[in-house]
Amino acid sequence: MKIIVTGGAGFIGGNFVHYMIKKYPEYDIICLDKLTYAGNLETLEPVMDNPKFKFVKGDIADREFVYKLFEEEKPDIIVNFAAESHVDRSISDPGIFLQTNIIGTGVLLDACREYGIKRYHQVSTDEVYGDLPLDRPDLFFTETTPLHTSSPYSASKASADLLVLAYHRTFKIPVTISRCSNNYGPYHFPEKLIPLMIANCLNDKPLPVYGKGENVRDWLYVEDHCHAIDLIIHDGKVGEVYNIGGHNERTNLQVVETIIDALGKSRDLIQYVTDRPGHDMRYAIDPTKIHNELGWEPETKFDEGIKRTIDWYLNNKPWWEKIISGEYQNYYEKMYSGR
Ligand code: NAD
Ligand code: TYD
Repeated sequence: MKIIVTGGAGFIGGNFVHYMIKKYPEYDIICLDKLTYAGNLETLEPVMDNPKFKFVKGDIADREFVYKLFEEEKPDIIVNFAAESHVDRSISDPGIFLQTNIIGTGVLLDACREYGIKRYHQVSTDEVYGDLPLDRPDLFFTETTPLHTSSPYSASKASADLLVLAYHRTFKIPVTISRCSNNYGPYHFPEKLIPLMIANCLNDKPLPVYGKGENVRDWLYVEDHCHAIDLIIHDGKVGEVYNIGGHNERTNLQVVETIIDALGKSRDLIQYVTDRPGHDMRYAIDPTKIHNELGWEPETKFDEGIKRTIDWYLNNKPWWEKIISGEYQNYYEKMYSGR
């Protein structure tokens, strides 16, 4: 089996590469990644010398490059993680989100048409469903919840999902889609809530909480996401969408306080800042379908997962300190100064 993992130098794609190489040492894994600010080859360092692994630098939206790669490698499966993934960046500069997340997905699908594929898997997000109100804890996203996006990021991901389903119906491309809730774990870029708060805590810097910190996210340990995708690409039904989430809802404030307490810091570090425009209130996944059809369930409880994540950041300081001291510093100043 030969799998192209796009976006494999990023957070979830990187974890997926490690997961697959460990579980299926006989598979050929090719990582295709543009190495944007979010891509980091150090994440792939442990597998770079593995003869069953190959890294290829390139853009999923570059048609000529993608076609050549398909022609040379003749992959069996594509798992598309490659995306611009940060909501705040999509608010500052939506253009690149349309280019990578929509056009890039279209190019990959065209390559599948041209060269054939056993499975194209699109890694999507629960954010395509929009948000749920805080006062209706009985409501959850199911696979039939209408798409109703809030940010340029989620709109671009929903557009990609529609393209994927259209290519299945019209061209019979064997596709699957997964829509997962917020992930956390090792190799998470420190602009997202959990790694940002861990890094700032460790550096005794203020912890910027948007609005009142009451927004709710449904957190899933990244390895549980990788396991779900593994099940879907092997046993999932073609043409189907699978929601992935572990009933692990927390307010942002609860998450931040958990991190502060685990690191023995003061809650005075919390700094309430201006809310994100269009900020989604609550995400919550109903994972019944993937549980019933594929037997998936999350293995890592939040308390255990957050402990493991914090330990990883404590033991891998060079990985994130390099990021924080580099170009990312300019983004941080622009995003948070005077907010
Ligand atoms: P990330 O930002 O950490 O990584 C994205 C990777 O894609 C980076 O390595 C980057 O270099 C690469 N990339 C960007 N543009 C590219 C292009 N044009 N061509 C090739 N490579 C390109 O993102 P992540 O958090 O790992 O998310 C991965 C996928 O999972 C995304 O599609 C995202 O929408 C989805 N998702 C993320 C979460 C989450 O909580 N992080 C939850 C659900 C779904
Ligand atoms: P984020 O990690 O950006 O993921 P998403 O917006 O895709 O869910 O943010 C998670 C939540 O944390 C979201 O409600 C926004 C909030 N947040 C903060 O309060 N402060 C921050 O500095 C960041 C980055 C996020």
